[in-house]
Amino acid sequence: MTETEATEISTIPATTGTRLLDKRAIITGAGSRASGIGNGRAASILFALEGAKVLLVDSDLNAAEETKSIIVSLKPDANVITMQGNVTDEKSCKEIVTTISNQWGGVDILHNNVGIGMPRSSVVDADMDEWDKVQETNVRSMVLTSRYAIPEMEKSSGGSIINVSSIAALRPRGMTAYSTSKGAVIALTQAMAVDHADQGIRVNCIVPGPVYTPMVYSRGMEPSLRERRKNASLLGIEGNGWDIGATAVFLASDESRYITGVILPVDGGVHIKGPDR
Ligand SMILES: NC(=O)c1ccc[n+]([C@@H]2O[C@H](COP(=O)([O-])OP(=O)(O)OC[C@H]3O[C@@H](n4cnc5c(N)ncnc54)[C@H](O)[C@@H]3O)[C@@H](O)[C@H]2O)c1
Repeated sequence: MTETEATEISTIPATTGTRLLDKRAIITGAGSRASGIGNGRAASILFALEGAKVLLVDSDLNAAEETKSIIVSLKPDANVITMQGNVTDEKSCKEIVTTISNQWGGVDILHNNVGIGMPRSSVVDADMDEWDKVQETNVRSMVLTSRYAIPEMEKSSGGSIINVSSIAALRPRGMTAYSTSKGAVIALTQAMAVDHADQGIRVNCIVPGPVYTPMVYSRGMEPSLRERRKNASLLGIEGNGWDIGATAVFLASDESRYITGVILPVDGGVHIKGPDR
């Protein structure tokens, strides 16, 4: 375990061990692009510690295994399995749902966490192959996983789907392909919430702000930029993967049974902060 990871693990929020008891959960992008606590890894750990049976899916199996080993170190009897899967591939998405159904008889929670960024560009200079890849990975993937998970959820009278968007959808800053894809995730969430309410399926969206995770620091971040990101919020504190994971626990649990179609920024108020005067 690296020093960064050890520090981040030590800041884990308290759990009751029962908020997701026996719920069967798929987490996509359950690894992390580098050592440390990313959003998907944090959700995976917290889901397992709250009693869920978790299927950790990642295109990088080693990353998912690393998440599993953290879970097992914290809760040796956790119900956790890993699987290599590519959520842009329909066959793989079908296999993900088959795997959890074979293992635990169905699925109650689908946490659509996978998302990739893209270098800064506008519609004028964006590389269109990269543009398409971002839309495919960030939006189409959620369609494909949900397409197979929903019929399984229906068999057990409902479920909870959580789609991960980004503050870049609400406050665009030069990553136009990424912002476009994350805006589509918001629209997709609301459309799915309407389509599947009758089946007892809730669909909600987390909009992470500038949280400090391997996604943003793995290639190095100047302390001054880190400080600027922290101060971008109203609260003036730095968000992290646990903030996103804890929100996912709430939306996955029955505590949020009366909530669907919600677009929930977890950003210290960045989305309503005006320019400094
Ligand atoms: N960190 C931030 O500042 C921030 C801010 C806003 C939104 N987000 C969103 O949070 C989500 C992810 O956060 P994270 O911290 O877990 O990111 P991460 O990049 O650390 O981890 C994502 C994991 O997804 C896996 N992955 C990538 N493509 C895949 C595919 N096609 N199929 C299966 N697995 C795949 C990667 O191997 C990686 O392990 C994304 O949707 C991202 O857009 C992050």
